[in-house]
Amino acid sequence: MNDITFLLNGETVRVGGEPATRTLLDWLREARGLKGTKEGCNEGDCGACTVMLTDEAGTRAVNSCILFLPQLHGKAVRTVEGLSAPDGALHPVQQALIDHHGSQCGFCTPGFAVSMAAAHLNGRTDHDDVLAGNLCRCTGYAPIVRAAEAAHAAPVPDWIRDDPRFFWPEISSGARGKSAPACLPETADELAAWYVDHPGATLIAGATDVGLWVTKALRDLPEVAFLHGCADLKRIDETAVGFRVGAGVTIAALRAAMEGPHPAFAELLRRFASEQVRAAATIGGNIANGSPIGDAPPALIAMGATLHLRRGEGRRDIPLESFFIDYGKQDRRAGEFIEAVTIPATAPALACYKLSKRFDQDISAVCGCFNVTVEEGAVTSARIAFGGMAGVPKRASAVEEALAGKPWTLATVEAAFPAFAEDYAPISDMRASAEYRLETARNMALRYLHESQGARVSVLEVSP
Ligand SMILES: Cc1cc2nc3c(=O)[nH]c(=O)nc-3n(C[C@H](O)[C@H](O)[C@H](O)COP(=O)(O)OP(=O)(O)OC[C@H]3O[C@@H](n4cnc5c(N)ncnc54)[C@H](O)[C@@H]3O)c2cc1C
Ligand code: FES
Ligand code: FES
Repeated sequence: MNDITFLLNGETVRVGGEPATRTLLDWLREARGLKGTKEGCNEGDCGACTVMLTDEAGTRAVNSCILFLPQLHGKAVRTVEGLSAPDGALHPVQQALIDHHGSQCGFCTPGFAVSMAAAHLNGRTDHDDVLAGNLCRCTGYAPIVRAAEAAHAAPVPDWIRDDPRFFWPEISSGARGKSAPACLPETADELAAWYVDHPGATLIAGATDVGLWVTKALRDLPEVAFLHGCADLKRIDETAVGFRVGAGVTIAALRAAMEGPHPAFAELLRRFASEQVRAAATIGGNIANGSPIGDAPPALIAMGATLHLRRGEGRRDIPLESFFIDYGKQDRRAGEFIEAVTIPATAPALACYKLSKRFDQDISAVCGCFNVTVEEGAVTSARIAFGGMAGVPKRASAVEEALAGKPWTLATVEAAFPAFAEDYAPISDMRASAEYRLETARNMALRYLHESQGARVSVLEVSP
């Protein structure tokens, strides 16, 4: 790996000679002796390893166990050791955790404290969402949430505010470039030129999938390119037809941008993993991995999104659904990458239903997305897509056909039930059986019908 420079708890550090896929967690604990940051799951699920990351985009909590060192270049990192003042005065969230008895064995506490400090800095009060990626086995969440609420009014300590003043341009020279084995391009053009000559390389965007290939599958990645430095891949542009979302846009940024135009999609993204994972994971990675249980693709397919692919100077656009050919097989050529995805400007009929064993921080068993337009009581267009029902995120073409032109009634939806088995032959696995998946998909269609007719269908809306 080339040398990288970043700010660690207020101190500028330069790191060289490390493998490009060395995780920040391992480096903190093994090379720096900073053992406050804990290793629980080593796969992004528990939040014990949470650190604060600051750059031009702001400050957020991320999981250091699936963050590679090159992803830190030019940024500021704050670990639990850097939360208290240089003179030892506690951060308000640390004091509140003590005052409200928010810690018992203490293993999870550093991760909670860092997540809470990032939220405190950003003035966030949606504590349930913010802390959903931090697991505690013994204290119970009520005292922890009480501590977060109690700390809210306290001012942000100066030493925490200092991180954004890190002088980014000063440290940018030398570390970026095209040299193998780690390419750190700054533009999509640079990436395109390099990747066409290194088609066997692994692209790394947020590393929330690739990180696990290293920490869990123990894979060596001999040649990698990190995409996070490509500012032009992080843009969301409004075009004549909708929103062109760069592949490097994080799920957190996309969720914020979609709250106005596509609230159902934004709400689905709230249920995507956790605060820490959403802050790192990108939309490009969520599509490119071709997972049958990725959450964004069914919603994007139901909206009619277009995928923009690039190889060298060559570009092509395809409907998103045709990108997913078969399990593990996508319509992507050697040296080709996802540049962006265009989401139509409006899809007022969109509804997205994610079914998972836990409400927060869980992978979908079934994710159903419906976009059915009804005029004068009859279906004039239907786009429906599911995740978790096939080897790929897949459109429900037979169901759509069964609905087209029919009156939008219970009888029509029930008459379309057999078509689900034409579209899908789901598998049974630890998340759900095949039968349950099929039944759930049909029930989601019923739910959509009722919701479109004004019924309250969300369990979150049920009050005692
Ligand atoms: C704890 C945890 C919870 C999760 N929960 C969810 C969830 O609820 N819903 C969900 O859908 N996913 C979930 N995921 C999976 C993951 O977060 C997403 O798939 C994420 O969007 C991947 O994006 P990334 O930027 O991290 O991709 P990376 O890990 O960087 O890359 C993923 C794949 O995409 C390729 N790639 C990345 N960018 C491009 C590009 N521009 N062009 C071509 N190829 C590219 C990489 O080479 C790799 O093959 C979870 C992951 C974790 C660790
Ligand atoms: S160790 Fe569990 S999220 Fe990192
Ligand atoms: S205090 Fe023991 S795991 Fe949270």
